[in-house]
Amino acid sequence: MNNFNFYNPVSIIFGKNTIAELSKHLPQDAKILFLYGGGSIKRNGVYEQVAKALKGFDYIEFSGIEPNPSYETMMEAYEIAKREGITFLLPVGGGSVIDGTKFLAAALCLPEGVEPWGILQGTVEVKQAMPLGCVLTLPATGSEMNGNSVVSRKSTHEKLSFGSPFVMPKFSILDPEVCFSLPDRQIANGIVDAFVHVMEQYLTIPNNTPLQDLWAEGVLRVLIDSAPVVMNEHQNYDAMANFMWSATMALNGIISRGAIEDWSTHVIGHELTALYGIDHARTLAMVLPGNMNVRRTVKGDKILQYGERIWGISKGSKDERIDATIAKTVEFFESLGVPTRLSAYDLKKDTCEKVAQRLAARGVVHFGEAGDITPEVVEKILANRL
Ligand code: NZQ
Ligand code: ZN
Repeated sequence: MNNFNFYNPVSIIFGKNTIAELSKHLPQDAKILFLYGGGSIKRNGVYEQVAKALKGFDYIEFSGIEPNPSYETMMEAYEIAKREGITFLLPVGGGSVIDGTKFLAAALCLPEGVEPWGILQGTVEVKQAMPLGCVLTLPATGSEMNGNSVVSRKSTHEKLSFGSPFVMPKFSILDPEVCFSLPDRQIANGIVDAFVHVMEQYLTIPNNTPLQDLWAEGVLRVLIDSAPVVMNEHQNYDAMANFMWSATMALNGIISRGAIEDWSTHVIGHELTALYGIDHARTLAMVLPGNMNVRRTVKGDKILQYGERIWGISKGSKDERIDATIAKTVEFFESLGVPTRLSAYDLKKDTCEKVAQRLAARGVVHFGEAGDITPEVVEKILANRL
């Protein structure tokens, strides 16, 4: 097991009607910026619940944060926050609203004259951030309990991420009932995203992490069991609660401590979103099976463990079991209505080359848990899913 530090200070408030408790967690004297997305919260009653909880507080609103939040939109929020003397940020939404707000939180605390995009390029260090607290409306990213943020720049078609303990939320409110209004597509995306988060931290190289493995397998198990129920009965509280908590646990740092992590499926997937605007989870559903197939030597031992413990695959040669395990994973994603082939998005061979070249141009040329992913391997992984 690798050495590790573990620090997760996010206070989770989970369950029915918990938005009403918001006022207990907000600093009384704060000037609050309440941020949200394209308006789903106005249609499902969440906006009213938040507005009611904010009675008596000094706050203004910023709306219109898009899926795959853009630097351009967040810089509009930046100008408003500076002008209005905002001291606390309250994102209400899915991963995009929360991620955009984390970037804003870090940008607002930079020294005068420093270009905030540098945070995402890795050229500007985050040394402090404005405090934020979240109301989550979409189980998927784990952003509500981690320090990660992914932001896109429209003008350059870049999608980059940063991580900092300073942007971890002070609290996150998770009421499964607010997810009842999610469309099928977002529920399916959320399940796939959380599933692949576990895989990036678990389906790597054995590293004497039996407890972390069991936690990871537990999250996968609950996601698989809840999936058909939440897909068919959006208002099933018990299934939604289990899905929501699993998605948070998939990426709050616990399952990866001491383990060897990959994240190459995300790195490649982000390029597909940046180039073609494909939903984050859908890019992962294409890339992961190709990654497992092409990198079966690196991932082989863990694929066999995952295949046996999650899908009950124990017969056949090593390669046969790996093939059967990949087929089960693909079947699971497809059962949610999430395509796993590039052709489903009209993408062809030139896409494989383009993605490899874009990563190479940014110097991303040896990545993955074994540092074995070169531009040629990126091409192979994508070509495997044409
Ligand atoms: O914008 P509104 O109108 O609110 O609608 C949203 C949006 O259109 C809608 N929605 C959210 N909650 C709803 C709802 N509709 C009905 N009822 C509700 N309760 O869902 C749509 C998608 O929302 P979005 O926030 O974009 O989805 P998600 O949570 O999947 O976030 C995706 C973003 O997170 C990043 C992704 O790259 C992508 O940019 N990620 C962030 C990570 C992190 N911070 O740790 C890790 C992930 O790997 C991921 O990269
Ligand atoms: Zn993800």
